[in-house]
Order: sequence, then C-alpha cells, then structure tokens
Amino acid sequence: MLDHLADLKRSHHCGDLRVKDVGQKVTLMGWVHRRRDLGSIIFIDVRDRWGMTQLVFNPDHQVDTHTKAKLLRSEFVIAITGDVRARDESTVNERLATGEIEVFVDQLHILNHANTPPFPIEDRIEGVGDELRLKYRYLDLRRPILQRNFILRHKIAFMVRKILDELNFLELETPILTKSTPEGARDYLVPSRVHKGNFYALPQSPQIFKQLFMVSGFERYFQITRCFRDEDLRADRQPEFTQIDMEMSFVQMEDVFEVVENMMIEVMKLIDVDVPKSFARMSYDDAMNRYGSDKPDIRFQLELNDFSELVADSGFRVFTDCVANNGRVKGLCVPGGAEMSRKDIEQLESWLKKDFSIKGLAWIKASADDATGAIVKFLGQELCQSLFEQAGGGEGDLILFIADSRDRANQALGALRSQLGRNRNLIDESQFAFLWVVDFPLLEFDHEGGRFVALHHPFTSPLDDDLDKLSSDPEKVRAKAYDLVLNGYEIGGGSIRIHRRDVQDAMFKALGIEEEEATQKFGFLLDALSYGAPPHGGIALGLDRMVMIMCGERSLRDVIAFPKTTSAYCLMTESPSEVSVHQQVELGIHLMRSSKGTTNTPAS
Ligand code: AMO
Ligand code: AMP
Repeated sequence: MLDHLADLKRSHHCGDLRVKDVGQKVTLMGWVHRRRDLGSIIFIDVRDRWGMTQLVFNPDHQVDTHTKAKLLRSEFVIAITGDVRARDESTVNERLATGEIEVFVDQLHILNHANTPPFPIEDRIEGVGDELRLKYRYLDLRRPILQRNFILRHKIAFMVRKILDELNFLELETPILTKSTPEGARDYLVPSRVHKGNFYALPQSPQIFKQLFMVSGFERYFQITRCFRDEDLRADRQPEFTQIDMEMSFVQMEDVFEVVENMMIEVMKLIDVDVPKSFARMSYDDAMNRYGSDKPDIRFQLELNDFSELVADSGFRVFTDCVANNGRVKGLCVPGGAEMSRKDIEQLESWLKKDFSIKGLAWIKASADDATGAIVKFLGQELCQSLFEQAGGGEGDLILFIADSRDRANQALGALRSQLGRNRNLIDESQFAFLWVVDFPLLEFDHEGGRFVALHHPFTSPLDDDLDKLSSDPEKVRAKAYDLVLNGYEIGGGSIRIHRRDVQDAMFKALGIEEEEATQKFGFLLDALSYGAPPHGGIALGLDRMVMIMCGERSLRDVIAFPKTTSAYCLMTESPSEVSVHQQVELGIHLMRSSKGTTNTPAS
C-alpha cells in the first residue's frame, strides 16, 4: 500500500543536516540509496539532489515504523519524519557531508515502489555497458556524478547569460525549421506537408540569421542554441549540440577576443580556476608545424621537429628520397622514451599506418655513449647526435620519425603527440590552457571536388591586405578567423564577416559558386548586405565541450542529458523510428518496403 504526500512538507534536503541541527524534528524526502538490515536495527541512506542522510529505524523507538521499513528496497521513494541525533564518534562517516548526524525515524511514508534498477545508482559502475546506461538514461542521470555535471552545466549557462546581459547582449531566437546553412556538414532535413517535395533543413548553426540581426541593428546578439549536423560522430561530436552563439557590430577581432576572454575567466571561476587575462595566441601554420594540430594541447611541450635539412644527405634512403621529393622528415623527441620497447613502438607504428596511411615510424634511442636503433647504421653516430641536439634531447630519450608529405607527417605526429602526452603522463590535468589559433587561410583546395572551399564558412572576411589576392592567388588569402582551443579541444570558432556585397560576391566566385546558385541559396543574405550592413563579427562556443572539459569528462555523453550513440541513435526512445504509411503519404514521401529493409522511392 502506498502513502500519499498529504500535508507532509519537506523541512530539509538530504544534504543539509549538521551537528548544529541535532535535536530538531525534520521531514526528508528522497530515494532509498542503500539499506542495511541488521535485524534489530535498519539503516537506510536516503538520497536527493542535495545529498544523502543516514536514517535509523529502531524498534525500541517506533516499532510499527521499523516493521514498515523492512519493506524498503533500493530506489523506493520515501518521506520520513524523525529526530536528528549526533552519531557516536566511532560511527562518524567522513565521506558524507551529513556524516556526523543521523535521523531516528518515527514516521515512514512509502510514496512509490521501484523495480530493481538494471545497474547500481552509484558513481562507480565499472562493467556496466554504455548501452544499458543510455537505455535507462533517467536512472543513469540519478547517479551523483551526472547530477553534479548537469548542475555545473546549468551554472555555466546561467553565468554566460548574466555576463552577456551585463555587456548589453540581447538573447534573440532564430528558427529551427529553416534553410541549409553552410557549416560543412550534412543537413538534417524535415519534409514539408504543405509544400510537398520540399524540405526544411535544421540549422547547422544560426550563422546567417545572426548576421541578419546585425543588419537589423541589434548590435549585440547571443543565443544558447541547439545546432544539428549529420556527420560522423565521436566522443566530442554529437549530432545535436549546443552553441553559445554571439555576434557584434562595429568590431574587430580584438573586441571579440576581449568579450570571450572576460566571459571565460568568469565561467572558469565556477570550478575555482583562475585563468590569467590575455589568452595565448598562435598562428594556424605554427600550430600545424609545431604541434601537428589546429587545436594543440599546450599543457605539455613535446613539439614536432623538422629534421629534413639534417637528414637530406644522409645514408638512409627513406629519408633522402622523401626530402628529394618535396616531403618532410619530422619527428618527436620523447623524454625518457628510450625505455619504450620495440613492441611499444611497433604498436604505435601500426596504429599510425592504419589511421593516417603513413609508411613507417623510424626511431633512434640515445644511451650514455651512443645512439641505437635499426636505422643508426644508415645515419651514423655523428648525425644521430646532431638530431638529438636539434631536438634538445639526450641520454634516455627517443626520437620517432615520420617521412612523408608535410601535411601527413604533421597530422600523424600530432595524433602521436597527443597519445604520448596521455600515455606518458606528460599532461598536468589540473591546468586549463586557453589558446587562440589565428591567421587561418581563407580557403583550402578540395582535391576531391577539384575546387576551393571555405576553411570556416563562406561569410568569413579576408584580411584587408589580402583582398586583391582573392581572384589572383586564392590559396594565399588569410582570413579574419579564429578558433578558441582549450586543452586540445576546439571549443569555439568565429570570424569577422564580409559585410560588403561586392566582397561576398567575389568570395562566392572564388569558391566556384555561380551567381544563380548563390542567389538561390543565400539570396536573402546578399540582399541584406545591400541595405547598409555594418561591419560585424562573432563566434560560437561549443557549450557541451566546455562543460565536458570543466567536468573533467572525456565524452560529451556525460554532459548531454539525452545523448545519441555513435550511430546517431537514441537507445531510450528508440529513435529514429519508422512512421506510419499515413504520415508518409501526407508528406508525399511514400517509402517502399523491400525484403532487405526500407528503400526510398518517390511518392506514387
Ligand atoms: P563551428 O562550426 O566552428 O562554428 O562551431 C562552433 C563550435 O561548436 C562546437 N561544435 C560541436 N560540438 C559538439 N558536437 C558537434 N558536432 C560540434 N560541432 C561544432 C565546437 C565548435 O568550435 N557559425 C560558426 C560560428 C561563427 O562563425 O560565429 C560555427 O558554427 O566547439
Ligand atoms: P625499411 O627499410 O622499409 O625496412 O624501413 C626501415 C625502418 O624505417 C622501419 O622502422 C620503418 O618503419 C621505417 N620507415 C619506413 N618508411 C618510413 C617513413 N616514410 N617514415 C618514417 N619511417 C619509415
């Protein structure tokens, strides 16, 4: 038989009570977290969002209540009234904020039963698969560690709103049913019932709308908003995610940096981290050449070295041929790496061969007297010594080499650097290292498509000095674009925009977008630019990634309430799911069923 709440009123939360409350009569409500039935006495830990309190059911205190308490099981929902008592010194629980007290219960109300949960509602649930956690996400979210993550997420979002409001930003909403935005991923499409055969696209970002807000004269816009991108997913990429999206009029890059830096400094205080003003900056070229990544983790050194000049005339054909063919011989000098076994290195080599299509990972180690390794006989001791000297390494260190095109060597070594940083404990995990990456190229050549594409998006402004090169030398044009990087993650990206119609036209031309296509896709933006668009720029910060890093998590799943799997599936709601033939017909997209599954055919 279940009880009603009736006129019961909570007096405290489960994390509130301390020694100063001893002697009070209290009413607590929550879930049965743990129960220990010692026969004569029953102990129950009751849990709510605020914490945990130990309850004591003693037959000498209240015999009926004690009998009723025997019915309690994990996750039952209860309300109790009782007396706060101090615990014996020997039974004080240091790990619990309420560990110095317990509540002797005189009234127990069982508000709901619970089936046995499929996994314990504990922080440590090793061995429980992610699939089970996601299927029963509402139970997973009860776990204290996830509760903590979402409380922090709320605080961050709340702080952002407060700061931006104080800075005169307006939170304005933009449509979800809209038209494709060119952020480079595939769109999620929504069929229109009224306009059969036509589709809305879910926004990959509010990019165009926020620029239109600037044309409208709102001057300072922000929005904490959902974006949708149909792309390959991984730990830091979800199909729907949240941006802190911002745009400002009459600004330069420095103004955007100032707002974002001030905001991040305040936000980081929520986890008691003091970030120094003026974040580090690095050019895109430097980031790629020195760290092999456009989002380098600068919490540890281990920079890439370019050994091409030193080895160009060496006796090792792999290296000399590579340099002769315009490739680079680059490498990492790993401090203390000489202790790594041949097998360790071979494992790294096969991973890099598989994921980055490199041809090999050569190495030399430095001992007290000489260099060792299979390629030393080709290079000679003297050259090996020079290589260690260039890399600033010595006895006990290891150099790993990749000879390949500059881009591929950088990319593979960048991944290797991250891996070694983690595996060899080179990273101070208590640090938070912000970095602006700047001086991006405006365009990059897409070899598959045989044309230039925008590195950020097509509304990014070229540097004023490079404007002329847009038609003559597109590859050389640099952009007024910037990414914000934190601990090796890209947490934001933005730019100063093109605000002149003629420049936007030239940009589309450089991208090989015909006038007709430009008009069809972005006609409204081009029109708007012709009606007095102010100079403007902005940025979007990935809220989920920010929260993930601040929570010390490694996956977005731990900071997004109802995330999807890597195949973009929601295990709890089992979506995407089939829809009725009636719905399909209404939308004019009748799907035919084949023996192999569903195939898409036009409506008949
Ligand atoms: P961009 O595409 O760089 O810029 O996105 C901004 C930030 O959003 C986060 N992000 C993601 N987070 C989780 N899952 C994803 N799939 C995902 N994709 C992106 C990243 C990224 O830095 N309109 C421009 C911004 C601008 O120019 O103002 C834009 O969307 O942290
Ligand atoms: P091989 O002469 O092909 O047996 O290679 C000798 C060593 O050089 C092996 O350790 C290979 O892994 C390494 N190696 C081969 N090709 C490359 C390359 N392109 N870059 C770096 N190391 C390589």
